[in-house]
Amino acid sequence: MAVNLLLGLQWGDEGKGKIVDVLSGDYDIIARFQGGPNAGHTLIFDGQKHVLHTIPSGIFNKTALNIVGNGVVIDPVIFQKELYKLSKYNIDVASTLLISRKAHLILPTHRLLDAASEAAKGSAKIGSTLKGIGPTYMDKTGRNGLRVGDLELDNWEEKYHRLTAKHLGLIDFHKVDLTYDLKALEAEFFQAVDQLKKLTFIDSEAYINEALKNGKTMLAEGAQGSLLDIDFGTYPFVTSSNTTAAGACTGLGVAPNKIGEVFGIFKAYTTRVGSGPFPTELFDENGETMSRVGHEFGATTGRPRRCGWLDLIALKYAVEINGVTQLMMMKGDVLSGFDSIKVCTAYLYKGKEIKHLPYSIESEDVSPVYTDCKGWKEDLTGMTSKEEFPSELNDYIAFIEDFVGVPIRVVSVGPDRKQTVLI
Ligand code: GDP
Ligand code: IMO
Ligand code: MG
Repeated sequence: MAVNLLLGLQWGDEGKGKIVDVLSGDYDIIARFQGGPNAGHTLIFDGQKHVLHTIPSGIFNKTALNIVGNGVVIDPVIFQKELYKLSKYNIDVASTLLISRKAHLILPTHRLLDAASEAAKGSAKIGSTLKGIGPTYMDKTGRNGLRVGDLELDNWEEKYHRLTAKHLGLIDFHKVDLTYDLKALEAEFFQAVDQLKKLTFIDSEAYINEALKNGKTMLAEGAQGSLLDIDFGTYPFVTSSNTTAAGACTGLGVAPNKIGEVFGIFKAYTTRVGSGPFPTELFDENGETMSRVGHEFGATTGRPRRCGWLDLIALKYAVEINGVTQLMMMKGDVLSGFDSIKVCTAYLYKGKEIKHLPYSIESEDVSPVYTDCKGWKEDLTGMTSKEEFPSELNDYIAFIEDFVGVPIRVVSVGPDRKQTVLI
């Protein structure tokens, strides 16, 4: 099949960027299909760390084309900063980075609206990255949005000002104390738009389908994770796009029958950044160990990530919704040293044990039921094959595979490109 998908199965930050970078040499095209600069995808190679927000993680592979699809929302200001960071690597972005005309633009007032909306929610806030994601997708579905293709029209600034005027009214409506200098934000925005316009805009759905007809292969790179999906995640503590497999079809214009492998990526434990339910969250020294050893701080906001045991009920749910065909387990190395590792294999819900994700997984509704797995002491970070793995890790892998019914094909044992074991 020509199109494979790579999707996060938890609450994001599973290690998607690392694996897309590793796999990028096998594909002609790498494409982002949803989300925007709320994403932070980390790549580490040759002793250097790179964090990408909107640009696909194939950008360092000089043979692949990178497409920012129609389902993505782009903030020209952040995009420009990403491009600037790439500028010393001699990447020909004008020809290897293509942008869909149908992708929506994040305006400065979208960011302000995000901040106003979160402030108005008080303690019920989503914990948004405040990149303007929610308000931009609201304008998309509300049919008011500004798209990349509009920048090629003479009247785009008129459209911009009309939309901004509406946003300013909405910001007032929230009645929160928000100080901002719109003139300065706009100066930065318009300058960044001029830079964006130097890149190549394409009718991406036509481009991609033509490429597929000509035998090209594509890897679609998901952002966020299934439990942050607008429909299937822990609503309302979610993002504003479909992070699941179907999102790749709508976010790129690829028909479902073109999809081949669906790579589902998960951490050997669980993390979540921002608010919302998290049944297996730990508040003890085990959670602190995961946080410390795994360096669990957000790649976009720097916020500490909440940590907990692996939740197999949630993982199985994500596998099902996405039609995952192969699993990739990340950060196995972080679990070295635990005497015993717990995995959630059921929920206690209204006094009964259940094996599925109910409507609400708030802590007052569900508590996790754990199975204990034996831990291992060995340092995994230099291991290169399953045969080298401690038997307890191989048992952990087999237990997960058996529970969710899909094989684990990749085990990541460190953040570097090279610390990737195919099993
Ligand atoms: P993404 O958003 O899914 O691309 O993931 P992030 O980049 O936000 O977060 C993953 C973090 O874990 C990054 O800091 C990676 O460098 C790091 N990482 C990825 N795989 C591994 C691994 O196998 N072991 C360890 N220790 N770190 C990893
Ligand atoms: P990657 O692609 C982890 C979380 C935020 C917040 C909620 C809504 O790096 O895995 P938003 O900014 O979309 O309004 O935030 O979603 N969130 C992420 N958490 N990884 C991400 O992306 C995320 N993108 C958004 O923390 O809880
Ligand atoms: Mg991330």
